[in-house]
Amino acid sequence: MCATMATLRIIIIVAMALIAAVSTAVGHNITEILSEYPEYSVFNNYLSQTKLDDEINGRQTITVLVFNNSVLKKFVSNETLSVVKIVLSIHVLLDYFDMQKLLNIGGGTVITTTLYQTTGNAIGSTGFVNITDLNGGKVGFGSAAPGSKLDSLFIKSVKQIPYNISVVEIDLPIIAPGILTGGAPSSAVNITSLLETAGCKTFTKLITDTGVLKIYESVATKGLTVFAPSDAAFTSGGLPNLNKLTNAEVVSLLLYHASSNYIPRGSLKSVKNPIRTLATNTAGKFDLTVQTNGDSVTLVSGVDSSRVESTALDSVPISIFKIGNVLLPTELFTKSPPPVPSPAPETSTRSSPSPAASAPRSIDSSPSPVNGTSPIRSPPIPPTRPTPPTASISSPIDGPAPAENPTADTGNASNGGDVIKVPVIFLALVTVSISGII
Ligand SMILES: *[C@@H]1O[C@H](CO)[C@@H](O)[C@H](O)[C@H]1NC(C)=O
Ligand SMILES: *[C@@H]1O[C@H](CO)[C@@H](O)[C@H](O)[C@H]1NC(C)=O
Ligand SMILES: *[C@@H]1O[C@H](CO)[C@@H](O)[C@H](O)[C@H]1NC(C)=O
Ligand SMILES: *[C@@H]1O[C@H](CO)[C@@H](O)[C@H](O)[C@H]1NC(C)=O
Ligand SMILES: *[C@@H]1O[C@H](CO)[C@@H](O)[C@H](O)[C@H]1NC(C)=O
Ligand SMILES: *[C@@H]1O[C@H](CO)[C@@H](O)[C@H](O)[C@H]1NC(C)=O
Ligand SMILES: *[C@@H]1O[C@H](CO)[C@@H](O)[C@H](O)[C@H]1NC(C)=O
Ligand SMILES: *[C@@H]1O[C@H](CO)[C@@H](O)[C@H](O)[C@H]1NC(C)=O
Repeated sequence: MCATMATLRIIIIVAMALIAAVSTAVGHNITEILSEYPEYSVFNNYLSQTKLDDEINGRQTITVLVFNNSVLKKFVSNETLSVVKIVLSIHVLLDYFDMQKLLNIGGGTVITTTLYQTTGNAIGSTGFVNITDLNGGKVGFGSAAPGSKLDSLFIKSVKQIPYNISVVEIDLPIIAPGILTGGAPSSAVNITSLLETAGCKTFTKLITDTGVLKIYESVATKGLTVFAPSDAAFTSGGLPNLNKLTNAEVVSLLLYHASSNYIPRGSLKSVKNPIRTLATNTAGKFDLTVQTNGDSVTLVSGVDSSRVESTALDSVPISIFKIGNVLLPTELFTKSPPPVPSPAPETSTRSSPSPAASAPRSIDSSPSPVNGTSPIRSPPIPPTRPTPPTASISSPIDGPAPAENPTADTGNASNGGDVIKVPVIFLALVTVSISGII
């Protein structure tokens, strides 16, 4: 038992090393490779739909276990696309196995890491595959999870580009225990509760109160990616005063944090062109660019940038990321001048860093910490409204105003800007989140 645990630990360490060694530019294109084999066209099609193709193309030293169209069709008939993605990701081995190597497995059995393990969702050893040399020239594949059978047999070697990628056919899918029951259909995903759980309560309240959530939901059946700023992002000192935005601008800002395409992490890393957001109404406006450095992904708005902190959801066709900063589009904000030598940033080495103490640095009513960043390019609102930090929490909005026309041109944010009292929302939010902490 102990030996098994130790072995597993070593395997996991090796796996981590492999995961860390993700390469950026690799020459192969799995779609192209498989397109030469019509018998795997369904498999190929699912790799594209689930965007696993981007993951595969972004990695080196891998093996893809494929099965033919009839086997795959039979299997997928009863599964949601998100479950299919999980199962297929177990068939992408993060090591290079050609026929030679498969027929000469040292010790007759080996456990190897799969792409599924890299998602962080694999429970126990479901992210690993056991390859065992069954006698008589047969090689069996199965989940490494305890009690799994080696049901899937090696059929043939399909294509090798040593030692970058190997494609091998097996006769049956490898099904890890618990996988098939694991995935709720993505239509059942409750975006708001998921975002709240992920630590994006402020953002959730904003998209709910403004009706932008409805727009997200209207595209979600075809594809949706949300970049949700964490709660900390809304209280960070560098954030311009969002109170000065008009209602329509707040809607644009929130639409800017989503795209109507399914872009999971692996695809985000391989994105080359700017990403159109839901706020994009004219080519080149309100778009985002992506910078990848090793395994770290950063979104760049033109004014600021934000690291992608974690994946809150990857359930085809919906992908939700938690990000570290509010993304500020150039269409709404001017680029900040180089940081002014900060006037001793609150040397509050107080004994108790009470949340209330940090409140003034939040998005509202900060006593102009950064000069020259008067963030709004478009008509600044005359400062008619006094902005006491914690006053008037009553009724943040008079009834949510869902955008009139969610399915239509979502890029035009100039509608529905009549009801919402944005500054009050923000005030209320700040207050709520602070009292939540206390
Ligand atoms: C294998 O990958 C490396 C690194 O990406 C690349 O330089 C090389 O050309 C590839 N080999 C083949 C045969 O494509
Ligand atoms: C891979 O090949 C397919 C089909 O040839 C092509 O449509 C796709 O753009 C290629 N992907 C990349 C990343 O080059
Ligand atoms: C499909 O799934 C349902 C429940 O998940 C199950 O009862 C049914 O037998 C399955 N059908 C097939 C063909 O596997
Ligand atoms: C792989 O599975 C077989 C059969 O269950 C088992 O005997 C073998 O020990 C496993 N291999 C490893 C490395 O755990
Ligand atoms: C597909 O693969 C299965 C399992 O190897 C095999 O029984 C079946 O004959 C294959 N079908 C075709 C059309 O090749
Ligand atoms: C989603 O979860 C929220 C709680 O976060 C709840 O108020 C709402 O009713 C749920 N929506 C659906 C459609 O179940
Ligand atoms: C802030 O900048 C404006 C012009 O950019 C200048 O007129 C004003 O004096 C500055 N205020 C402070 C406190 O530096
Ligand atoms: C937004 O909609 C209004 C009215 O529907 C229209 O006049 C305006 O041109 C639109 N703006 C853009 C950028 O599409």
